[in-house]
Amino acid sequence: MEGGWSGSRGLLLCLTASLLLQGRANAFTINCSGFDRHGVDPLAFRTAFKQKNFRPVINYSIPTQVNISFTLSAILEVDAQLQLLTSFMWLDMIWNNPFISWDPEECGHINKLTVTTENLWLPDIFIVESMDVDHTMEGLSAYVTSDGHIVYSKPMRVTSICRLDIFYFPFDQQNCTFTFSSFLYTVENLLLGMEKEVWEIVDTSRDFVSTHGQWELLGINKANPKLSMGSSIYDQIMFYVAIRRKSRRYVINLLMPSSFLMVIDALSFFLPAESESRAPFKITLLLGYNVFLLMMNKLLPASGTPLISIYFALCLSLMVVSLLETIFITYLLHLATTQPPQMPGWLHSLLLYCTSPKILCPAALWRENVGPGLTPSHLPGLTEPRELAGKNLEPREEDLNGGSGMTKAQLTDLWVQFSHMMDTFLFRLYLLLLASTIITVIVLWSS
Ligand SMILES: *[C@@H]1O[C@H](CO)[C@@H](O)[C@H](O)[C@H]1NC(C)=O
Ligand SMILES: *[C@@H]1O[C@H](CO)[C@@H](O)[C@H](O)[C@H]1NC(C)=O
Ligand SMILES: *[C@@H]1O[C@H](CO)[C@@H](O)[C@H](O)[C@H]1NC(C)=O
Ligand SMILES: *[C@@H]1O[C@H](CO)[C@@H](O)[C@H](O)[C@H]1NC(C)=O
Repeated sequence: MEGGWSGSRGLLLCLTASLLLQGRANAFTINCSGFDRHGVDPLAFRTAFKQKNFRPVINYSIPTQVNISFTLSAILEVDAQLQLLTSFMWLDMIWNNPFISWDPEECGHINKLTVTTENLWLPDIFIVESMDVDHTMEGLSAYVTSDGHIVYSKPMRVTSICRLDIFYFPFDQQNCTFTFSSFLYTVENLLLGMEKEVWEIVDTSRDFVSTHGQWELLGINKANPKLSMGSSIYDQIMFYVAIRRKSRRYVINLLMPSSFLMVIDALSFFLPAESESRAPFKITLLLGYNVFLLMMNKLLPASGTPLISIYFALCLSLMVVSLLETIFITYLLHLATTQPPQMPGWLHSLLLYCTSPKILCPAALWRENVGPGLTPSHLPGLTEPRELAGKNLEPREEDLNGGSGMTKAQLTDLWVQFSHMMDTFLFRLYLLLLASTIITVIVLWSS
């Protein structure tokens, strides 16, 4: 009894199905006779075109499946101030229109035709992050295949919001999201699918992106969480697009000149402290660095404080510090050769301690170069003042240095020695600061 009932039900289902299919085939198959000889007959498509205001389905309980894919063709602009990414892409959408189908056998093997989009129902797919109205151009066409698939591609300029972080500029990577969703249709009416695999999208986009503009595409990840708003659920597909800035231009224009100037600044410590050209040389370098910063300012991001700006500021401060050091040493040497003050006992002991051959002191470098038994005549710039001072002040020497039992010449020697020791010591301190700045910056950049 039961079996018979289910059997009859099966038969009934089969009948309905075949009737439906037949009815569908009869009702919606386009009579294409003459397409290959007289061109397309617009009347043949009349039924389909009349339906364009409604979602093209026969049974409204069945959602339309729209398969999408896109090709990213250029990253036009990355605005860190407004947190906007402007890109250009082609969006491909494919869906099925059951009211359009024909038999290519009867129509001279015409498999697909182009139809202007104003005659077709179009899915309202948009990018959720987009901060601009869609300026799609008018008069686009779509391909219609003989089995009713509509293939529609449109170019889009997308200005989308994206959390941009330019701290690591010019070695920064950005991860921006494009969420494709329907404006209106909920999951009961429209489902999204993928037309291509993600790796295919990456493959086709990578070449385009790297030839247009200063970014390269690293990869794309996909996720499709549903979005629920109140009682309605929307289907959406999210693409996480990771891009990296091409940094070569910035290395050549920003980092290399800056490094050269810093190296020259460090090397200028080897100009003898007595020579009068050291301070002017450093001032010139400082001016040069300022001009460089002014010129290169337009290459830096307009907003935010990237690490590179901090690095430039540190380099500038190091140059100022090195200039101050030169001024200080010049002042010490001047003091030593004109009117050397009494040397405090502890300073004298320290000097003796440091210049004794066994100990590695900051002055070691200087000792190797000049030696402790320095005579005033070894200092080219100082010979004359020293001699003058010595001649003029000789009679009063005992009065001046009576307490310590040192002649003025000895005292001058000690102070000159001390100045050189200070110079070497400060030079090493400067090198240490420079090295730690560079290492910190490199470590931060490579992380
Ligand atoms: C298609 O239309 C032509 C006339 O335009 C007619 O002769 C032919 O029988 C039609 N074919 C079908 C399958 O309806
Ligand atoms: C429409 O589709 C739903 C779900 O697939 C089905 O239950 C219903 O019978 C269909 N209606 C018709 C008229 O075919
Ligand atoms: C969309 O993709 C799915 C598989 O991902 C496929 O089954 C379906 O036929 C596609 N639809 C269209 C209209 O291409
Ligand atoms: C981008 O961010 C998303 C989450 O926000 C993450 O799932 C994805 O892995 C990131 N992509 C890359 C390449 O870092």
